[in-house]
Amino acid sequence: MNTFDAIKKRHSTRAFSSRQISEEDLQDILVAGGQAAIGCADFASLQLFAVQDPALLKEIDETSAKGNPGSHPLYQAPTLVVVAAKKGFLENIELSNAGCIIQNMMVLAADRGIDSVYLWMAMAGINSSAELQKKLGFPEGYTCVGSCALGYAEKEFPKLKGEGQRLEVKILR
Ligand SMILES: Cc1cc2nc3c(=O)[nH]c(=O)nc-3n(C[C@H](O)[C@H](O)[C@H](O)COP(=O)(O)O)c2cc1C
Repeated sequence: MNTFDAIKKRHSTRAFSSRQISEEDLQDILVAGGQAAIGCADFASLQLFAVQDPALLKEIDETSAKGNPGSHPLYQAPTLVVVAAKKGFLENIELSNAGCIIQNMMVLAADRGIDSVYLWMAMAGINSSAELQKKLGFPEGYTCVGSCALGYAEKEFPKLKGEGQRLEVKILR
């Protein structure tokens, strides 16, 4: 698939089957994340944690649901990639870094026929629990700055608003 097609194919999935992604796909997706543009090339300020442990995924899901038993912010995804960062050289740059990393991962996932969704909710959940951060193995001073779920859709989710331009654009010549 060419890059533009993979970009257009990526869309959010909010119901995952239990089918796990392959080890080869996981490793390649993590490399895609690490190939992202990173502000000030500060690679040392960022780490990726790929969670496939069902007990840990359940705990992140429950913590992120914030007491709402009907809510599953991880949508039963079998893989969650968590981006952790310490404060960068510039204010909030870690959030932009996470966006670049996660987009790269989701586009490669789309190319491989793997479904995904960017998860702010899981970030909020992880950051509300020092115990969860410890279980994930975050180094001192690191917090979650973004995450994305990966897997295969349980049911079809059509792409929101199609594959054409979705933003208002002005070209100034
Ligand atoms: C920074 C960011 C945070 C997001 N957080 C969530 C989230 O917590 N839960 C969720 O279901 N979708 C989340 N999304 C997905 C968006 O809702 C989704 O990208 C948007 O509705 C457009 O749909 P599409 O991804 O299918 O193109 C997030 C997306 C971004 C970029």
